[in-house]
Amino acid sequence: MARIAPSVLGADFARLGEEIASADAAGVDWLHLDIMDGHFVPNISFGPSIVKTIDKLSKTFLDVHLMLSEPERYFEAFAKAGADCITFHVEVHPEPAPLANQLHEMGIQAGLSVNPDRGPEAVVPHLKNFDLLLVMSVFPGFGGQSFIESSLDTVRAARDHIDENNFKTLIAVDGGVERSNAVKVVEAGADVLVMGTAFFGAEDRADLARMVQKLERG
Ligand code: DX5
Ligand code: ZN
Repeated sequence: MARIAPSVLGADFARLGEEIASADAAGVDWLHLDIMDGHFVPNISFGPSIVKTIDKLSKTFLDVHLMLSEPERYFEAFAKAGADCITFHVEVHPEPAPLANQLHEMGIQAGLSVNPDRGPEAVVPHLKNFDLLLVMSVFPGFGGQSFIESSLDTVRAARDHIDENNFKTLIAVDGGVERSNAVKVVEAGADVLVMGTAFFGAEDRADLARMVQKLERG
């Protein structure tokens, strides 16, 4: 059974409380919170105070995706704000194991993310240290972009490595994921589908969540 993680970036911030309540009512598994610094990515989103607000609004697992040039400077702030998993990019930390240890020592799950222009070799050797691999299927910075097909090669390679070694690492796919490509993303080996535009723009959010949750990797 796949999990759905709506990206709150796709929500209407003027009605943030209602949007979070609607995601909860739809039975989502995680909430995905995109943090952008205007440096690692060409956009700025929100910081720990909004994460704290969301944590107060919902009991759902908070998956915090740090698109930051110096993510480790903010681990503590996001942990205190209520993050359950903190993900940072291999592009800024090609040797990421010590940072995964830092997060684990704080009692937080550790995630590693990789952009679409890197091959699986950038992340596969590190999977043993991480609870989550977040494969980007768009170049990060903005919601609503089109899915980049070649990211599925990274998903497949990571899936094989995780299964061969009996690791517990989950694979999430982030960017341009929607109803029409959900099946193939899960078939490639994803456990978690991040959906911003698709979830918050859905006519029936609960129906979309159920559809994702019925998908099996096979
Ligand atoms: C991209 C973010 C994604 C994105 C997802 O910079 O990391 O989480 O907002 O949004 P959609 O599903 O609209 O591509
Ligand atoms: Zn994201």
